[in-house]
Amino acid sequence: MSEASIVNEDKRKNMVDVTLRLRRYNPESGTQKKPYWEEFTLKNCEPTDRILDLLHRIKWEQDGTLALRRSCAHGVCGSDAVRINGRNRLACKVLINEMGADTQPHIKVQVEPILGLPVQKDLIVDMEPFFAHYRDVMPFFINDTPVPTNGRERLQSKEDRAKFDDTTKCILCACCTTSCPSFWANGKYVGPAAIVQAHRFIFDTRDKGAQERINILAEPNGVWRCRTIFNCTPSCPRDIEVTKAIGEVKLAIQRNSTEGIIKITDIKEAVFSS
Ligand code: SF4
Ligand code: F3S
Ligand code: FES
Repeated sequence: MSEASIVNEDKRKNMVDVTLRLRRYNPESGTQKKPYWEEFTLKNCEPTDRILDLLHRIKWEQDGTLALRRSCAHGVCGSDAVRINGRNRLACKVLINEMGADTQPHIKVQVEPILGLPVQKDLIVDMEPFFAHYRDVMPFFINDTPVPTNGRERLQSKEDRAKFDDTTKCILCACCTTSCPSFWANGKYVGPAAIVQAHRFIFDTRDKGAQERINILAEPNGVWRCRTIFNCTPSCPRDIEVTKAIGEVKLAIQRNSTEGIIKITDIKEAVFSS
């Protein structure tokens, strides 16, 4: 047997069949107006295939009417957030070997739209309520003071930059907000993603809009709707410590201070040393 056929034989041995159970919905359908489940089986998938690859195969080979949103296919744009086996993930970042394809010849995976936003068609939700909350927190740099005369940049120490480094990584995928039971219960809650975006500017020493953002987040539909349920943090594909960022904004409101960050560990030390 040639080397190439040995490689092909090995590849074939590792291949698996995957049944995808998809939540379908088409409000324009003449016959099926309510959401329903539909299964598609795909033969000969490779363990390193991603859920997005399988959704593409269904759309291209079996049912061209399947609606899904995606753009970069590499975990950057945040547009393909879906609920995979009950957990919010980016379809382009989940390999099927995480779902048991490395140990079983046939696996089943459930994919449905993220929760808490109106479904438009199949896996596509209306993101407008999510982006409205994002806009509410003024997610842009505010500083009307003159630029420094001795340089072109507003300089910042490494320590000050580190205070909001984590929250700069957000790609607005909505995985956190749509995994939050407080948001499911009340869509007026600004949600963890908007708080993460506000955090990024509140703790930026160069920005001058912190007090305004803090006032917005101190309102009844701001940070206090967060009950520290913690679904948001493990759902973040960028590994942002979402709940910690929300806690830091809560502390800033309680202290009525926009002067930098206070760490929960600082409080513990102050309590224990008094
Ligand atoms: Fe997505 Fe994480 Fe940003 Fe939430 S914080 S929107 S989960 S990247
Ligand atoms: Fe929701 Fe996360 Fe708070 S899941 S309640 S925003 S800790
Ligand atoms: Fe862009 Fe998945 S398609 S993050």
